[in-house]
Amino acid sequence: MQRFKWTKAHAVFIPEVDAEHRNLFHMAGELEAAVLANGDETRVQEALRALMAAVEDHFSYEERRMRSARYSSYAWHKQQHDTLRKRAGWFVPRVESGDRESALLLLEFLSGWLKDHTALADRMMGAYLRNYERQAARAAVPA
Ligand SMILES: [Fe+2]
Ligand SMILES: [Fe+2]
Repeated sequence: MQRFKWTKAHAVFIPEVDAEHRNLFHMAGELEAAVLANGDETRVQEALRALMAAVEDHFSYEERRMRSARYSSYAWHKQQHDTLRKRAGWFVPRVESGDRESALLLLEFLSGWLKDHTALADRMMGAYLRNYERQAARAAVPA
């Protein structure tokens, strides 16, 4: 199944953010593989923990970058992150208790959310940050 494959179509053109996205897609794919392998519960739990930790690191990173660049759509963007945090908060304990159905539903939700969020909110953030950094670099050059 290829639904967690990162491609250039997901690029936001901020190298650190793209690297993290690639990693998140990869880790979500690992969780999916573990769930579909149907058996090794430790593998599922480890993949889930690793993915959720990487998601939180990634959100914090983007939120820091947006705040330090005084991004005007910060609140809107963070609200989307918070939606995923909230959904994850509901799903994770269920998956941790061994509920396969919840694991599949979480994967379903994640695959849609990641695609939509990177395609719009993260892409808008990327365009803003690139422009902001270009202007900052220009301002730093002596006249
Ligand atoms: Fe984001
Ligand atoms: Fe992101």
